[in-house]
Amino acid sequence: MCEGEYFAGGMADSLPTAPAGRLDPGAATGYLGLREAMEVTDALVAEHDAMRRLLDLLTRTVGRLREGRQVPAPAIRRLLDLNRQFGEVCHHAKEEHALFPVLEANGISREGGPLQVLVEEHRLGRSLMAELDQMLEQYIYADGGISNLLADRLEDYVGLVREHMWKEEYLFRVAAENLNERAQREAAEAIARVEESLAACQARGDFVRELERLESTFLAVPAG
Ligand SMILES: [Fe+2]
Ligand SMILES: [Fe+2]
Repeated sequence: MCEGEYFAGGMADSLPTAPAGRLDPGAATGYLGLREAMEVTDALVAEHDAMRRLLDLLTRTVGRLREGRQVPAPAIRRLLDLNRQFGEVCHHAKEEHALFPVLEANGISREGGPLQVLVEEHRLGRSLMAELDQMLEQYIYADGGISNLLADRLEDYVGLVREHMWKEEYLFRVAAENLNERAQREAAEAIARVEESLAACQARGDFVRELERLESTFLAVPAG
């Protein structure tokens, strides 16, 4: 499915038209300069890139479980916890409490529209994560006996989040091109407030370091 097919339902049509005479992106003014404000969605996409690296490790985990290899439960637990803190607690809060309300105020529909779809996918992701928590406990007590079931559910989760980010990145591109200066600044300020209020957001540096440590650990284990 290409972007055009996915959004053929009128998502792009519901976006506002950019006002004539948009400002020079280099003209930084006010509490958050315009250049900074226009980087709002770029910053969220950069977070997606980090989240994809974590999903890659979950996919590697699925591969090992499918091969019947033992994957230590604490390693899976660490991946899930990291994903929860950075993805569900911090990243989703920026979207649901900062960016999405600004998009809604600027003509992108929530009820029955793309924002409702995205928020529902966040909820579904949390539900799958809760299931994974429970399955991981069973995996420990069953001594790996439910490896395939755990792999199935991990794959469901990874697939959901990958597709979700793909949809969002289309929306973000459209938003970056169409939101006026004021709306972009409102979104940037709202995101900054979320970042200041959540410890999980302030620990971004820790997340990246831990991600790199886990990547080197996983790469150190030979495939097959
Ligand atoms: Fe999202
Ligand atoms: Fe996102």
